[in-house]
Amino acid sequence: MTKRHIAIIGAGGHAEVVASVILASGDSIAGFYADVPSLWGYSLAGAPIIGPVSEITSADCSHAIIGIGANEARKKFAEKIDMEWATIIHPFSWVHPDVPIGRGSVICAGSIVQPGARIGSHVILNTKASVDHHCLVGDYAHIAVAHLAGGASIDEGVFMALSCTVLPKVHVGAWATVGAGAVVKKNVDPHSTVVGNPARSLSELRSHAREVH
Ligand SMILES: CC(C)(COP(=O)(O)OP(=O)(O)OC[C@H]1O[C@@H](n2cnc3c(N)ncnc32)[C@H](O)[C@@H]1OP(=O)(O)O)[C@@H](O)C(=O)NCCC(=O)NCCS
Repeated sequence: MTKRHIAIIGAGGHAEVVASVILASGDSIAGFYADVPSLWGYSLAGAPIIGPVSEITSADCSHAIIGIGANEARKKFAEKIDMEWATIIHPFSWVHPDVPIGRGSVICAGSIVQPGARIGSHVILNTKASVDHHCLVGDYAHIAVAHLAGGASIDEGVFMALSCTVLPKVHVGAWATVGAGAVVKKNVDPHSTVVGNPARSLSELRSHAREVH
């Protein structure tokens, strides 16, 4: 494959992880773009932090990727900026060859994606995420060190925090948050936050706590 020269939007911790995936894949980094003036002129992962996101141009890179962990921010930039988005996959991960992965998505070290799964655009499968057979992962989702069991599905913008698990065939609605350590046994409503084992809605837990006191 031709070596790609990839610009990164963002210059924080996740951007540095994205840079490491790019370099491990044999591609090169064109530079970072971030709306943080105090960072301009410095370098990260051996590449310059060039300037604001508005200065990114396809004249200086072959592709771009959004290295920002917040799902809403990735959506905002993806919709605003017209670039050739790179999909990057760490060589120490396993993605079944038939699995489609949308543009702009990053598969970090240690992640595993099994046959029949589908991964959307601008998705983050973070360190050691696992997506089992026939799972669906919507655009702008972020799976931290977490696990989706066979046939589970998560919609657009879902954030699965550290060490959480979604059981087989369970569905998590758009822009929901699954808290760290949660075990999700039942479908989750869009825009809700669930925590615990079994996972329960945080707003319900809060109103229950208010009634008790
Ligand atoms: C679920 C989460 C998003 C909720 O954040 P929040 O809305 O700020 O919630 P709060 O911290 O105000 O906590 C509210 C209540 O829920 C409880 N709670 C929060 N997160 C919890 C979790 N993961 N599991 C169980 N209970 C949790 C708190 O103890 C608190 O209970 P209390 O009111 O009885 O004291 C957050 O706690 C979380 O899990 N973040 C994950 C971070 C992460 O994994 N990042 C990965 C980076 S790659």
